[in-house]
Amino acid sequence: MAFGKVGVVGLGTMGAGIAEVLARGGIDTVGIEVNEAALERGRTTVENSTARAVTRGRLTEEAREQILGRLTFSTDFTDLGDRDLVIEAVPELIDLKAKVFAQLDKVCRPDAVLATNTSSLSVTEIAGATTRPESLVGVHFFNPAVVMKLVEIIYSERSRPEHVEAVTSFVRDLGKVPVTIGDRAGFVANRLLFGLLGPAAQLAETGVAKEDIDASLKELGLPMGPLTLMDLIGLDTCLEVLESIHADSGSPRHEPAGLLRKLVSEGSLGRKSGGGFYTYDRAGSGTVVAPVEGTASAEVAEQLYGPYLQDAAEMVKSGYCTADDADAAMTLGCGFPVGPIAALRERGTWQD
Ligand code: 3HC
Repeated sequence: MAFGKVGVVGLGTMGAGIAEVLARGGIDTVGIEVNEAALERGRTTVENSTARAVTRGRLTEEAREQILGRLTFSTDFTDLGDRDLVIEAVPELIDLKAKVFAQLDKVCRPDAVLATNTSSLSVTEIAGATTRPESLVGVHFFNPAVVMKLVEIIYSERSRPEHVEAVTSFVRDLGKVPVTIGDRAGFVANRLLFGLLGPAAQLAETGVAKEDIDASLKELGLPMGPLTLMDLIGLDTCLEVLESIHADSGSPRHEPAGLLRKLVSEGSLGRKSGGGFYTYDRAGSGTVVAPVEGTASAEVAEQLYGPYLQDAAEMVKSGYCTADDADAAMTLGCGFPVGPIAALRERGTWQD
């Protein structure tokens, strides 16, 4: 491995998941948080996730101990001084990221590669926050990081190609499938996914039952309905991603629904807060209180799925990514049973 020692800054849902992926891949990993309480939450996330894998018979207790043994938790940035690669996974606030990169500039080795797991900010803009913009690469994992195979590798105009290549092969060695692309709002997967999630929230706002919307998309073989998925991702994150894509596309389909804004402003952030579109039995749980069986509608499904397929066709035709990349993004990043271009081929509306 080119990167034997890796650091992760920020141990929220994604940062803790990334730290677990690294430790599972045999990497000596340091996880950094701002205070002891946040650090404890990050540690507990990894401990619970690996304990669940043991219960499910997917890990032995011995393997779990080894994974946890590769993880060090700290609130001291200087512990990143010997790292080959540092991945930033703090909340999506440019000022906060700028602060983190200013600290990394001080403590990281001059030859260390820096990475950001941003899902909604521009990698090029974040690169402007470090004195080493050529060292910065985007590495975008998907939630749950341990499960989803896709990792988008994003290069800015200033990223050094050898760093992009090194990170790409590192991610492949971790058992993930990298898709390497340029910097654009939403990259590949979120740009396509949120062209479906955003309109699903808009539809819920018009009064269509959330259970029916979810049932309609599940009928197409998606692993979860769009509103359930938004609750899993976190509604605050969904809002940020939609705002960023909307600023770039100007499409009404990417305009965040008022309902989404309202839920976020109320602190209903999805599973992590115990309630979002659905109410959960406790914060962090995926068990819905008093679940209602939805009725699938082919019309609702097509209303959401058809434009998503067109988005993918336009993305590939624009040359931003290949048909294979678009398909990999949606099947390996979001668990869709079939990629959008493959779906268009099945419909007989795609010419290679
Ligand atoms: N952490 C770790 N592992 C988890 C997990 C979690 N939070 N949730 C599920 N798993 C594991 C389970 O342990 C299980 O593994 P096993 O079979 O080896 O025991 C496996 O995943 C399947 O779990 P379950 O049987 O409990 O549940 P499902 O079969 O319903 O699968 C799911 C859960 C993998 C989350 C599936 O529903 C899915 O793929 N959903 C779509 C997720 C998605 O689209 N993610 C991308 C969101 S976009 C994003 O993250 C980008 C960001 O920028 C916004």
